[in-house]
Amino acid sequence: MTARELSVPGLAYGGDYNPEQWPEEVWAEDVRLMREAGVNMVSVNIFAWALLEPSQGSYDFSRLDRILGLLQENGIAADLATPTAAPPAWFFRAHPEALPVDKDGRTLSYGSRQTFCPSSPAYREAALRIARVLGERYADHPAVVMWHIHNEYGCHNGECYCDTSAAAFRVWLRKKYDDLAALNHAWGTTFWSQWYYDWDEIIPPRPTGAVPNPTHQLDWRRFCSDALLSLCEAERAVLLEAAPATPATTNFMVMYNFDKLDYWRWAPELDIVSNDHYLQSTDPESQIDIALSGDLVRSLAGGRPWLLMEHSTGAVNWQPVNRAKTAGELRRNALAHVAHGADGIAYFQWRAAKAGAEQWHSAMLPHAGTDSQIWRDVVQLGADLRALAEVRGSTGVAEVAVVWDWSSWWAVELPSQPSEEVRFQDLVRAWYEPLWRSGVAVDFVRPDADLSSYKLVLAPSLYLVDDEGAANLTGFAERGGVLAVGFHSGAVDENCHVRLGGYPGAFREALGVRTDELFPLLPGESLGLSDGGTAELWSERVALAGAEAVTSYTSGPLTGVPAVTRHTHGTGTAWYVATRPDPTTLASLLDRIREEAGVRPVRTTPEGVEAVLRRGPDADYLFLINHGDEEAEVEVAPQALELLTGKGLAEGGGPVRVAAGDVAVVREPR
Ligand code: GAL
Repeated sequence: MTARELSVPGLAYGGDYNPEQWPEEVWAEDVRLMREAGVNMVSVNIFAWALLEPSQGSYDFSRLDRILGLLQENGIAADLATPTAAPPAWFFRAHPEALPVDKDGRTLSYGSRQTFCPSSPAYREAALRIARVLGERYADHPAVVMWHIHNEYGCHNGECYCDTSAAAFRVWLRKKYDDLAALNHAWGTTFWSQWYYDWDEIIPPRPTGAVPNPTHQLDWRRFCSDALLSLCEAERAVLLEAAPATPATTNFMVMYNFDKLDYWRWAPELDIVSNDHYLQSTDPESQIDIALSGDLVRSLAGGRPWLLMEHSTGAVNWQPVNRAKTAGELRRNALAHVAHGADGIAYFQWRAAKAGAEQWHSAMLPHAGTDSQIWRDVVQLGADLRALAEVRGSTGVAEVAVVWDWSSWWAVELPSQPSEEVRFQDLVRAWYEPLWRSGVAVDFVRPDADLSSYKLVLAPSLYLVDDEGAANLTGFAERGGVLAVGFHSGAVDENCHVRLGGYPGAFREALGVRTDELFPLLPGESLGLSDGGTAELWSERVALAGAEAVTSYTSGPLTGVPAVTRHTHGTGTAWYVATRPDPTTLASLLDRIREEAGVRPVRTTPEGVEAVLRRGPDADYLFLINHGDEEAEVEVAPQALELLTGKGLAEGGGPVRVAAGDVAVVREPR
């Protein structure tokens, strides 16, 4: 298969362009301003199904023809979407059975978007029909450079509990288990008399009197992700048939709190990985979430560059209070995504809507028009991205891998755990933060990934792991790597069955410890640690079985018991962090662990200055993002050039000065 790549030169810049929201007189101004801002690619047609297909099988492409023609005349490429995220009202009147049913059994109504059952045959047929007609019509259109399949799969309909979904779940289960006894064994259905004698007895894990079976719930989550994936694959196949050379993407939602899809399974199905990222108003350090999600998306893309398909210029409209961005934040945010591997930056949306559900969402062109801070920032960003054109294609340089697994995430947050306070993303972020603050580059990996290029592997939360993944991680330490594992990891296998003989099950031997009982802490409770820090959230009665204690509890029922241990395993080292140390203690622990692994920051910078490196064929690109309030100086290599200003730096090297809130991108020749 030849690689299908994006043919837009330099870095892509643009946003969702929804001209159907406006009378045609406005379009000429749109493209004029797009050119002014340096926009070179927009996503079109995402929510235009109702206008394209006014009734089943009758099409009106005239508007889209004109939009694509206008873009082409103005040298703006189109990322053409299949409009399948928002089926028209006529579809649901003809197929009320395609409406989704929520967990509580309520059938949801049309009148919004993404309100369809992922397993509905009628929906699939209608979606593939419009995708095919669209694909065939525009396969050779000169403006079309990429297919944008659907929009944010699972954003509003990640799970549907209707009878059609139930039947599809059974088909999925039959394929996975083949015979019912295997399913009964995997689910442990002898417990509470749940044994199934007939496939048709199996239903989604709907609300019931007590806790549903955990493996049933876990397989349900896997099925729900796969049900949507199969729609994406089907659209992809139709488009590929129509336009074999055009790359396809679908926009992921790797960001805080979206947990519906196992993107490790999705990413390989796409030519280009793209992501949408929005800030949480309640997160005082959202720059860390941008970095983390960027690293995860780059990792999903196999280390190759990816596209930021959506973020916001200012406030969103779907949080309780929607915070505007502060001075310089738009630029820092966008360039941080580039630093973490994005080869394109786009927004939701081009022009702020006057009507409709998102009228209070920011856009590139705000309600206030061009005499506005956002517009000035948008134009500036266009110039910045042009100045950075040469970073396109450059990649990351991580020596540290952080294990990320969706099944484990789902499993550790199922009900009836030792503590419902244990949240996967919070733990990963807690470990990621100190690395980010130190300027250490990070990739994310699956438990079974090839780890040979890393010096240090961290598994902050890996409750569920299969034998293969566990052997891969422990083998990494055995062969000389440094491995650090967080509490409550290795506890269960892929079926959620507890690994017997003591915790942390799959990692016990490599870590040289054995825990016989778990002692999760209450919210607000903390224990003293022998290194002067405190422990929160979790503790367990760890006994040493070859490891040494690095830190122990100095208060509470486990006084004297190890909280952090270190074990020589093979020719490497395996650390167990059996609690959540306070942030300062965790930071110094991770410093020590990474120093032992020989992992260096990409650059040492003053506090608040993020340093990220992208590596090109002949040069490194050092991104310096000053999130702090003071000007900072950073040493750079001789003959370096600051790309945003085009200024060469002092002979013999730096320093480069980065004003408070500013960004510098330095090309360092290699
Ligand atoms: C995304 C979605 C966009 C828009 C945006 C608003 O989830 O893809 O269509 O709704 O959120 O923040």
